[in-house]
Amino acid sequence: MPQPPVSPEQLKDACLLLVDDEQANLTLLRLILGRAGYTRVHTLSDARDVLPLARALNPDLVVLDLRMPTMSGFTVLEGLVEQTAPDEFLPILVVTGDASQTARQRALKLGAKDFLTKPFEATEVLLRIHNLLVTRILHESLRSQNERLEAKVKERTEQLERVAKQAEEANRAKSVFLATMSHELLTPLNAVIGFANELQKNHAGNLLPQDLTYVQRISSNGMHLLRVINDVLDLSKVEAGRMEVERMPVALDRVVKETLNEMEGRSVRTAVVPRVSLPPSLASIDSDEGKLRRVLANLVDNAVKFTESGSFRVGIISEPGTGRPLRLDVIDTGIGIAPDRLERIFDAFEQVESGTRRRHEGTGLGLSISRALCEAMDFRLTAVSEPGRGSAFSVLFAPDAEAPRSYDDALRAYAPATSDPGARGS
Ligand SMILES: Nc1ncnc2c1ncn2[C@@H]1O[C@H](COP(=O)(O)OP(=O)(O)OP(=O)(O)O)[C@@H](O)[C@H]1O
Ligand SMILES: [Mg+2]
Repeated sequence: MPQPPVSPEQLKDACLLLVDDEQANLTLLRLILGRAGYTRVHTLSDARDVLPLARALNPDLVVLDLRMPTMSGFTVLEGLVEQTAPDEFLPILVVTGDASQTARQRALKLGAKDFLTKPFEATEVLLRIHNLLVTRILHESLRSQNERLEAKVKERTEQLERVAKQAEEANRAKSVFLATMSHELLTPLNAVIGFANELQKNHAGNLLPQDLTYVQRISSNGMHLLRVINDVLDLSKVEAGRMEVERMPVALDRVVKETLNEMEGRSVRTAVVPRVSLPPSLASIDSDEGKLRRVLANLVDNAVKFTESGSFRVGIISEPGTGRPLRLDVIDTGIGIAPDRLERIFDAFEQVESGTRRRHEGTGLGLSISRALCEAMDFRLTAVSEPGRGSAFSVLFAPDAEAPRSYDDALRAYAPATSDPGARGS
């Protein structure tokens, strides 16, 4: 059963104020209301006392006689309306022996909510009072709900503002910290690397072979630290939205060849052979060459690092006809990545092997930086993998470029066409 919107208890508990200069009328009304169960009925016979008492009582309904000797009912009505808050509904039920249209209209204009004409009939009095009280009670409950809601919204807004301010301050503190730290770390580190490199030249010829090995270690560890610091700084720049992209036409085939040559020069692993697949026609792309090179270098570095022996492929797919670059793939034949780790490897410091079980060098920043760089250039970086067979990382240059759906799908894109006799004939 649905609950009535206003309970009988709420009604009986309402505070009523009856105003009439004739004591007999007050007694009669009080009797009718008392019989109907109303428990809080106040009466007043001097109109001059109405406003102060109404302020003190805050009644739910006022029954007001219009003709009183000490003060006109209209004046009292005006006063009551004036001292009622604008969002409050105070039902004033006007009682008069004067049934003229003018008197009624005037009272309604001043804010009366309903009428009773003397002599009144008990049932009608009760019905009108009941109706007005229901409206009043509903109005009050709405008002308190609104107040609670407003208070809640205010509280939440303040909370959010506090949190936002804290975050902003923390971010500012982080930027200042990083700027200071980078300077503090890079200056001595450059000295360490520089002097180690000088020592390695053994100008005076007085360093033993073992000393030279140690110096070599200082230098290579210093270089590693330098790379980590630069990566962390770059990541914070990306996070702060301060990574700037310098666009100009870039020839991707040149970038691929040069990056592979550079890496081959530095690489100690010769067991992993690179293959390159470039389309016959490849248009240039408007982008940031430096950032593209870093992404490619990170992907190739991973492909070599996570492939014991075998090969990896760097391939580009372009739009037939226009040569517009669509996608760049780095596909290896290495250890692969389990499906549940595939998305997480793009998080900073996330590595599949961890702790003492790690066999490969690295900080776990390459992919997160690469993805951030791609996003800064409006590209996407995706990965598919088959554990035990290999992984394929793809940079999608255009919004309409399709990522490989699986490792096999990535391989197929570069497999020689065998089943289409038409294609072979050309
Ligand atoms: N081609 C790949 N084959 C298998 N696993 C990979 C491959 N590329 C990345 N991973 C996994 O993802 C992790 C994160 O790669 P990411 O390049 O971000 O870091 P890293 O290579 O460990 O260190 P860094 O790049 O900072 O030197 C790697 O540690 C590895 O576990
Ligand atoms: Mg890496």
